[in-house]
Amino acid sequence: MSFQPNQIKQLAQRFPSDFTFGSATASWQIEGSSATRGASVWDDFAAVKGNIKDGTVADPACDSVNRYKEDIELLKYLGVDTYRFSVSWPRVYDFKNDKPNQEGLDYYSNLIDGLIEADIKPTLTMYHWDLPSELQEKGGWQWSGITDEFEKYAELLASNFADRVDTWATLNEPWVVSFLGHATKIHAPGLGDPRAGFISAYYQMVAHGKAMRVLRAHNANRAGTVLNLTEIITDFESCTDAVKHVDNLQNGIWLDMLSGRGISEFTKQATGEFTDWSFVNEEELKLASEPIDFLGINYYTPNRIEPAEDVQEFIVGQEPEVYPGTRDVRFVSREPKSLMGWEVRAESLTNTIRATAKALPGVPLMITENGGAFPDEIDGDEVHDPQRTDYYFQHLSACADAIDEGIDLQGYYCWSLMDNIEWAEGLEKRFGIFYVDHSTQKRTAKDSAKFIRELLASR
Ligand code: NOJ
Repeated sequence: MSFQPNQIKQLAQRFPSDFTFGSATASWQIEGSSATRGASVWDDFAAVKGNIKDGTVADPACDSVNRYKEDIELLKYLGVDTYRFSVSWPRVYDFKNDKPNQEGLDYYSNLIDGLIEADIKPTLTMYHWDLPSELQEKGGWQWSGITDEFEKYAELLASNFADRVDTWATLNEPWVVSFLGHATKIHAPGLGDPRAGFISAYYQMVAHGKAMRVLRAHNANRAGTVLNLTEIITDFESCTDAVKHVDNLQNGIWLDMLSGRGISEFTKQATGEFTDWSFVNEEELKLASEPIDFLGINYYTPNRIEPAEDVQEFIVGQEPEVYPGTRDVRFVSREPKSLMGWEVRAESLTNTIRATAKALPGVPLMITENGGAFPDEIDGDEVHDPQRTDYYFQHLSACADAIDEGIDLQGYYCWSLMDNIEWAEGLEKRFGIFYVDHSTQKRTAKDSAKFIRELLASR
């Protein structure tokens, strides 16, 4: 470990008393019980051999539909202020019979009540990638009608839960949906069409805006959205243009739409070989800049760029194809790295927070996900995970550095509460602070969970 036990208290004291600590999960990654809901693009994607590395499917995941009470106990053990979970759209709406699914709504209602009873604030993500299959058949995020569907979905959630949810996030990481799911075939729906990537970026952001209006109409307590933003770095002058291009696709286009800058000339030129953006309706695009109460940043690793060579390193989600139009460079990462091939570099988190605060002045920020997949060995009731614990120490310190600079950073969520389905990587990559035995569903606190518990207790 790179820190001394007495430094935990010092770190805790660096955060203001109203700073919110939490932990996060997402529906498809933990719920299981797919028979009690409709199908999503992730079920369809997982059904195709080879799409998910180890052949993992939605069931049983962490069986959280049946074990949510046990999961609330884990949160109580940690002493967190909030829990970020996502709603599975096909669990709350039955597209086959065109009506809400009461059993699904009851599940989330009970979860929310259980959290409130435990004095844990619910943070609800509306869309964490599990698009109903019926909507994908109509064209999914490339279909102009999708934003009205999302508005109806927001209405369903807000009318059921706005009285009890503390914090709402409309989308989670639209970049991933666009560039891993549409531009390439790494994620569902697996299209491999760069133009589709840009169309889906636009419609997701319009959908976000429509959902924001619904949330306002229901007096939602706090509402915003979640982007995966990061710093793009290089040691090579010859890579400067590529850095600008990747930075724009990773950070720029989303922050531009959110802040009302729309689609920039730079973006239009840089993407001209794939699209002329003629699907954009300027009036509709304004919706994407509906005022938000916070922006959530999911941060894991920087992107490091070097001149191209034949060998592309193994780094999940980082290769030139996922940034359409990127040429003559490759993505690399330096030690220390996580099992995803992601470089551990906490100063890039501070830099990302600073850059975001500059791009979106006046909007409070939260780190809605941060964490890592590292090798875990379970030994009886113990899991020693010094790399993950260190990661948390360093990245929380990086957040405190941003606060010291005067940036309005209001919260931090660990990804993830427990080991779960890491999308196309399957069950093998464990991000949890609780270890999950996937054959018995037993949850065991890793040392990193004990660290978080101690940190929160020393506030
Ligand atoms: C971001 C995503 O929101 C989450 O679902 C995923 O598991 C983590 N990153 C780790 O890759």
